[in-house]
Amino acid sequence: MNAPRSTMLARLLAAALPGLAALVLPALAIAEPAPDLEAGRQTFESVCAACHGPTGRPDPENPTVKALDPQPADLSDPLFNSREPAEDWQIVVTHGGQALGLSATMPSQVAALDEQQIRNVVAYAKTLAPGSASYPPGELNFFLPIRTKKAFPEDEIVWKSRLTERDGADVWRNVLEIEKRFGKRSMGVVEVIHEDDGTDAEITEVEVGAKTVLHWNLARRSILSGAVVVAFPTDGDASDEVIPYLAYGRLFDERWMFQSSARLILPVDDVDTGEAEFAGVVHYRWTKWPRRVFPALEFTAAVPFEDDGGDSVQWTVVPQLRFGLTRGAHVALSLGAEIPLSDQSYDTRWHLSLLWDFADGSFFKGWR
Ligand code: HEC
Repeated sequence: MNAPRSTMLARLLAAALPGLAALVLPALAIAEPAPDLEAGRQTFESVCAACHGPTGRPDPENPTVKALDPQPADLSDPLFNSREPAEDWQIVVTHGGQALGLSATMPSQVAALDEQQIRNVVAYAKTLAPGSASYPPGELNFFLPIRTKKAFPEDEIVWKSRLTERDGADVWRNVLEIEKRFGKRSMGVVEVIHEDDGTDAEITEVEVGAKTVLHWNLARRSILSGAVVVAFPTDGDASDEVIPYLAYGRLFDERWMFQSSARLILPVDDVDTGEAEFAGVVHYRWTKWPRRVFPALEFTAAVPFEDDGGDSVQWTVVPQLRFGLTRGAHVALSLGAEIPLSDQSYDTRWHLSLLWDFADGSFFKGWR
């Protein structure tokens, strides 16, 4: 039986409230003295330009540059310049490339420049790709949660495994996800889903989708994206699904990141049997060093469109840990336990996800 539209709307709203509350909370100030760009330019020209070129674009004909291996980064490339958070660049300039798994050819300035000078020169380096203002900034690329959808577009390969324990049999679900950026603010995604319930082990679904950043605000540290994914089950009898979602991310201060997403799962054959899914997560980023362990707490609510009269909203809580594996954490692992808070058909779900941000280099870079 269909729930009256008004009750359904009320239930959807109730589940979405935590996310909405976060949207309207006032921005907490992120304390940072304003960088001096003119001082930064002078430092750049005297210290960095020899390798990176005065415009940020290394001159391949220059003998100093020719002798370098690897070649210096092209700081004038808007995609490259925008995707790297200034904080990571401060680490690289302070401690040298190897601090984040890059080459030691990028020299440490810890003896030559003080903290403020480094902040100035990095702020100036950030201005060297004028077009980068139309790309979402890497400051808004938050940690990958287990259930909540991310807002930031990625060049990433993610392996996800989920073990569902239910009385009788355990079910494994493995997902290979390939995400590739296109345009200034968009990303395409392909997912292949494999399931093994002890009797059958097969590819059960392929998903294809695209995501685009709708809005961001670097001063408020917030980002909002919209996406559409289409799921094609391999079982001919199962319905294809259209899955639109919104994903929001917000940094409350330097340490607390909040992300939330709202998805609709719409079976093409019978939309009424679909559901809405809300998820929200808080990560505690206690250090700027990426190769550390970070805790997070996530909640999800699944709201079926059809009210079966019972306690139909399914709530879960997902405590989880993120492990930065390489020096720059372009390879990272998350482990989590998804615990039902309402009457659900399973006991616990164990999650593992391994991500490789391939724009930051080979999988094997930066482990030592
Ligand atoms: C001796 C040459 C040299 C000098 C001097 C130098 N760099 Fe670099 N820089 C490099 C090289 C080489 C790389 C690429 C490292 C890699 O890809 O492994 C690099 C990479 C970088 C990156 C990219 C980091 C990333 O996340 O990929 C930034 C930012 C940077 N340099 C900024 C600076 C600034 C600012 C200065 C001046 C304070 C400076 N560099 C001075 C050679 C140099």
